[in-house]
Amino acid sequence: MPGLRAMRSLLLFLLLCGVSFAEEAKQDHDLANLVHQDCGSCHGLTLKGGLGPDLRPDSISHYDADTLSEVILDGIPGTAMPPWRPIMSEAEARWIAHYLLEGPK
Ligand code: HEC
Repeated sequence: MPGLRAMRSLLLFLLLCGVSFAEEAKQDHDLANLVHQDCGSCHGLTLKGGLGPDLRPDSISHYDADTLSEVILDGIPGTAMPPWRPIMSEAEARWIAHYLLEGPK
């Protein structure tokens, strides 16, 4: 019965969409955690500064998202700000750059 087959593919499709949507949400959550835990260990849990400077939107508004991603990926040589390229993708660094510029929700 073709109708049933179509219905099954549709269900499978919806299921897969749901799964990838959940994956994405989880990834955002993980990255936000990384920002507050790992970056926070130097920049302060609320990012208002510690060993490293304040990373709240007002303090970093002179950066655009591209420059900010590069700072995150390559670090700031000669300072305690480490490069994160070994453990994160460019897409993840870009996500964090936007997250910092817009401020945690
Ligand atoms: C080991 C400590 C440490 C960790 C961990 C760390 N940073 Fe930094 N970060 C610093 C220091 C120190 C500076 C200031 C460097 C300087 O003197 O210019 C800095 C500078 C920065 C700057 C530039 C700020 C400005 O106003 O110029 C950004 C952006 C930044 N860090 C983002 C991050 C992000 C995002 C993470 C997590 C992925 C992170 N940092 C993790 C120590 C750290």
